[in-house]
Amino acid sequence: MATASSPLQVRGEVISLKRVGEYYQMAIAAPGIAERAKPGQFVALAVGGEPTSMLLRRAFSIYAADERGVFGGTIEIVFARQGIGTKWLSQLPSHSSVDIVGPLGNPFPIPASPLKTLLIGGGYGSAPLFSLAEVLRTRGCRVEMFLGAATGERLFGIVEGRRAASQLTLVTEDGSVGLRGRVTDHLDELMTRTQTELIYACGPMGMLQAISVFAKERSVPAQCLVEEEMACGIGVCMTCVLPIRGDDGVIRMTRTCVAGPSFDGDTILWEEIGSIPSGTLGAEDLG
Ligand SMILES: Cc1cc2nc3c(=O)[nH]c(=O)nc-3n(C[C@H](O)[C@H](O)[C@H](O)COP(=O)(O)OP(=O)(O)OC[C@H]3O[C@@H](n4cnc5c(N)ncnc54)[C@H](O)[C@@H]3O)c2cc1C
Ligand code: FES
Repeated sequence: MATASSPLQVRGEVISLKRVGEYYQMAIAAPGIAERAKPGQFVALAVGGEPTSMLLRRAFSIYAADERGVFGGTIEIVFARQGIGTKWLSQLPSHSSVDIVGPLGNPFPIPASPLKTLLIGGGYGSAPLFSLAEVLRTRGCRVEMFLGAATGERLFGIVEGRRAASQLTLVTEDGSVGLRGRVTDHLDELMTRTQTELIYACGPMGMLQAISVFAKERSVPAQCLVEEEMACGIGVCMTCVLPIRGDDGVIRMTRTCVAGPSFDGDTILWEEIGSIPSGTLGAEDLG
């Protein structure tokens, strides 16, 4: 039986599509999905139209959800043009119909007490952090934001970040905007200055791994939203598994689409991604 939080499959309508730096920002009227969406969840879009050889849906974090949009419930996504699916999406005219499933995955966990939080986004990985910032602020948390990318064109959400956070720090590898370097080059100084008690991060896996290691050394928890390759997005195919250590100490190949997509970074066996670590539950049956 469908509940108020169950994902829906709906025929959405593209309301707008615009270029933002190197990314595309798309608003889709998706009644029912916008009403259910919470920060950290994602949607899966069918791509290629009908008929198509692109069988797999593409996953995108929900950047914004508006229950009362002019066209009914509307969600927004931000995407980079990576391959054939996102190329197809980037060329969709307004009012095109898109098949969309969501919201999928679990929302970001929200702390029970007001904490000093640091939200770190790499490239388009910042997209799910703005709605999170809103929720954290209503819970009394202090929200600092740190956005990083290779170039200024690949930073997403500078204006939104200024609105959402009490302080926004920017970093680019080429130094064209903000500080020069990578997020992790400046993390120590930033965490000390802001007395960070909890990190939320989304971006490339390398960045998430580096943040997790760094945060662990300072005994600060880091919630990482991972974008592991997904095929079904609903827990059926096992494409999206990562080695994760549970509260019971047992390592399991865990489906990030249904158990995540955000995890305590300390539970992910980063060095073992791409393999099945020895001792993983069930792995003995494979050999
Ligand atoms: C939770 C989540 C949130 C995301 N949020 C965003 C976002 O906000 N913005 C954004 O730009 N991107 C996001 N991504 C990444 C996005 O899903 C990919 O960029 C997108 O699928 C690329 O599609 P493509 O057709 O352009 O690329 P292509 O590389 O041509 O195709 C990717 C397709 O191939 C499949 N695939 C590729 N490798 C494998 C493999 N090893 N095993 C199985 N299937 C494979 C993928 O599942 C996908 O269907 C997110 C991914 C996840 C999992
Ligand atoms: S993508 Fe199929 S199980 Fe996660």
